[in-house]
Amino acid sequence: MNSFSTGPIKRPRRLRQDANLRAMLSSTRVLRSDIIVPIFVTNGVGVRREVKSMPGVFQMSVDVACEFLAARSAAGFRAFIVFGVIEREAKDAVGSAATDEKNVVCTLLQAVVRANIQMTAITDLCMCEYTSHGHCGPLDDNQQVINDKTLMLLVKQAVNHARAGAKVIAPSGMMDGTIAALRRGLDDAGFASVSLLAYAVKYASAFYGPFRDAADSVPTIGDRKNYQMDPSRDVREALLEADLDVQEGADMIMVKPALAYLDVIRAVREKSTVPVVAYQVSGEYAMIEAAAQNGWIDRDRVLMESLVSMKRAGADLIISYYAELLEKLLPLQA
Ligand code: PBG
Repeated sequence: MNSFSTGPIKRPRRLRQDANLRAMLSSTRVLRSDIIVPIFVTNGVGVRREVKSMPGVFQMSVDVACEFLAARSAAGFRAFIVFGVIEREAKDAVGSAATDEKNVVCTLLQAVVRANIQMTAITDLCMCEYTSHGHCGPLDDNQQVINDKTLMLLVKQAVNHARAGAKVIAPSGMMDGTIAALRRGLDDAGFASVSLLAYAVKYASAFYGPFRDAADSVPTIGDRKNYQMDPSRDVREALLEADLDVQEGADMIMVKPALAYLDVIRAVREKSTVPVVAYQVSGEYAMIEAAAQNGWIDRDRVLMESLVSMKRAGADLIISYYAELLEKLLPLQA
């Protein structure tokens, strides 16, 4: 027996040695059309305020946000998701500003229509940016969010968003029965074609820290563990949440956060027939930024590797704060 025949028969490296073969066999693609662009919109004119824990991400007034979106649209991004940020003094215990049809989110939506920006408008639907206590709905005497009362407020808020130009509504408060209530409410108000992107599987995660800076929505009492999910619970709970939302009429479902929950994205993807959206959340952004700014990691490569992992896990679309950088990194189409 000569020395050549003693090696392994299977040599996966054969297909890695040639750049052409590597390029041909690479199969996970991230496109600009896969990315949903988040924006934080706030009152005022000419406001562009950097979020402390998210360098490169800004709270913007409507005029500045419209310019930002027009630029993203020109670059080939197709959808944005808007979060409202209001002054502390405008907040109260029941989040009245959320259901005000003249609030900053509705104003932005109308401005986008007026400016003829061809991006699909998605709204984050929640009370936490509008309540004085920072919880996702009004509280009972035990500081628990009152589920069904919150649903009524969410329906009102959703109809306002639809009227102002939202094409997709994304409830993020993890109240039971949200999708059913919204579907009925929107249909009754004449918005049967407005679709619902359910934050179906949303964990009570420390990765949201920087967002609460960005949206000024830190709970002043307690935490969100009695409505958001426990990361250590069996993945079947994620399947239950996803299943309920699809049954109630969700057109798309979200898993959030993304990078620490790739197993959940995969599981949900395999069990459901609607598109799955992964949310690369604020903490994921902040970690990449902090390490990159220190020169400890290669920002572009770590970002691309993260997004590829989400697509490979089964995400159809990804919400990412990195839109501007991704204009350079992602192809427009396949
Ligand atoms: C509102 C909402 C949150 C996020 C999206 N929608 C905050 C939270 O649940 O505390 C987090 C997004 C991010 O961290 O990027 N309920």
